[in-house]
Amino acid sequence: MDLATTAVSSPSAYSPSKDTVRNAHISGRAAYDRLVAEAEADHEGYWARLAREFITWKTPFTQVLDDSNAPFFKWFADGTLNASYNCLDRNIERGLGQKTALIFEADDGAVTQVTYAELLERTCRTANALRSLGVQKGDRVVIYMSMSVDGVVAMQACARIGAIHSVVFGGFSSQALRDRIADTGAVAVLTADQQVRGGKHLPLKAVVDDALALGGCDSVRHVLVTKRTGAEVPFNAPRDLWMADLLAVQPTTCEPEWVSAEHPLFLLYTSGSTGKPKGVQHSTGGYLLHAALTCKWTFDLKPEDVFWCTADIGWVTGHTYIAYGPLALGATEVVFEGVPTYPDAGRFWKMIQDHLVTVFYTAPTAIRSLIKAAESTPTAHPRNYDLSSLRILGSVGEPINPAAWEWYHQHIGGGRCPIVDTFWQTETGGHMITPLPGAHDLVPGSCSLPFPGIAADVVDEAGNPVPWGQGGILVVKKPWPAMIRNVWGDPERYKSSYYPQDFQGRYYLAGDGAIRDAVTGNFTITGRIDDVLNVSGHRMGTMEIESALVSCTTLVAEAAVVGRPDDTTGEAICAFVVLKGALPAGKEAAAVAGELRSWIAREIGPIAKPKDIRFAENLPKTRSGKIMRRLLRSVAKGETSTQDTSTLENPAILEQLGQAY
Ligand code: WTA
Repeated sequence: MDLATTAVSSPSAYSPSKDTVRNAHISGRAAYDRLVAEAEADHEGYWARLAREFITWKTPFTQVLDDSNAPFFKWFADGTLNASYNCLDRNIERGLGQKTALIFEADDGAVTQVTYAELLERTCRTANALRSLGVQKGDRVVIYMSMSVDGVVAMQACARIGAIHSVVFGGFSSQALRDRIADTGAVAVLTADQQVRGGKHLPLKAVVDDALALGGCDSVRHVLVTKRTGAEVPFNAPRDLWMADLLAVQPTTCEPEWVSAEHPLFLLYTSGSTGKPKGVQHSTGGYLLHAALTCKWTFDLKPEDVFWCTADIGWVTGHTYIAYGPLALGATEVVFEGVPTYPDAGRFWKMIQDHLVTVFYTAPTAIRSLIKAAESTPTAHPRNYDLSSLRILGSVGEPINPAAWEWYHQHIGGGRCPIVDTFWQTETGGHMITPLPGAHDLVPGSCSLPFPGIAADVVDEAGNPVPWGQGGILVVKKPWPAMIRNVWGDPERYKSSYYPQDFQGRYYLAGDGAIRDAVTGNFTITGRIDDVLNVSGHRMGTMEIESALVSCTTLVAEAAVVGRPDDTTGEAICAFVVLKGALPAGKEAAAVAGELRSWIAREIGPIAKPKDIRFAENLPKTRSGKIMRRLLRSVAKGETSTQDTSTLENPAILEQLGQAY
């Protein structure tokens, strides 16, 4: 476990302007402190108060936290609700039927606005279509669609009938999709003919066909296909159905399925330290509460705001801050199909200008690549656009380096917009540690302080608190409503991953290291302490990539994967490979590296392709046969190693590993 041990000095802090403080929902540091004190004094009472305020319950809950079977915690378990009712019908009952819910901008720039009334109608028809096919409460439905109104509608429709959705990112390969379909036991897959990104048409339906052909997906009764491009796709009746044909005959209203607060709303697969991704299971009530609450407080969302979260619905950020949170508040949000660099790298800035976006939420990787683009292509520089509508900026998914923070603050926020650097995870459901714009001084590179009610802290390996200024392990000391409920089908893995015996099962283990500022107590996340990499804000398990590499049995004898820092993507994937044949060099090695990258793209998806591939006759191992990963990490960084290699069985191979392809 690598833990930073030095104190983080407090660099310059930015205080929110008087106006920001005055107008904010959480106005001033004292207001934040009061909420923290309220939660500390009565953790359950605090969350119960907010659950009554933010959620419309069909049957009010009488229990708050049930910890009788810890760490399988339950929140509000005897309350019943429906997430789609809370996101749609409720807003219409409050008079927001004609308000724009979604501003959808397609890859080619075409804009479609969808009101709350229209979104409800589309959701009801889709929900009825699912019901007409026999999809019931508790059934799993896999959604393999790109960013679209239909994607959001598909999620809401599942929620409406109590079906558990599992969205699979449209960039995952057929193999990865098959694994997820098989693990969920889905009865239906919702997809589109194709997806459009950066001017290119990419397959979706064909990937679903390949996934199902790989076997193990017998639970799937139907594949529902939405037309995006109209391309010809193979059609396998009666399994495959056109969504439009089904919708045409559906009623426009649909009685919601009222479910317990603990009913699973969705499963979302994420990488862990072993080879197999885990199906993170979220609840309906606790999750929806945190989605709505954090949207309101962290983004200080007001009825007149135009919110834009650039994440994909295939990731948790697209669940909480596109499909659920903003809609639960009755907000207007932008949904974008395309990529930030098409038709040029000014796309984000143009869209902020065109749609008068007020709150903008994106990932550090996007910012870093757009900084590069703005420097090399003057026309893509944000100075060419009117960004004066913006009032709050957000960052998510990975640490934001201070230089990127400063650029974002100055060039996008015009020096006036607070940046909320939000730390959280697929498992946490929503923000855990984040500034609130009207309450906190901002320090570039720090995600500041825990969201009120989140008992985050830094401890040592025995679970004892470490003093501020000293690095340690990030834990959460009390359960919270939006937390992961289980790993689908694998409760033991849930326990061992998140409530390990190292801390006697008392604390939630985030898997990240952290350090608190010696003076302010502000948190800085120092990175993962397990074998998980963060590449462009995407979580990738090193073991997952290793097992994909060794499954290429014609070429690969052995493989090890580590991360190294990268200026744009945060971390880059480096693979060390022992081939079955002779050690290749030069052009031959480059060709084999190319083959292995395509293999990984097929096995997992293009996002998992290693940036560097190094070949050797063997991997550096200790005499007892353990791969020396620490040594590989320094080779990957291009460091001349100062590490003790005396235990290394085969020192000559270090030289072979010098060349990356
Ligand atoms: C990292 C994404 C530093 C962290 C919402 C975490 C961050 C993992 C931040 C979760 C941040 C996320 N600062 N690191 N603001 N936000 N991370 O599950 O390592 O895709 O454990 O959830 O991303 O990634 P996930």
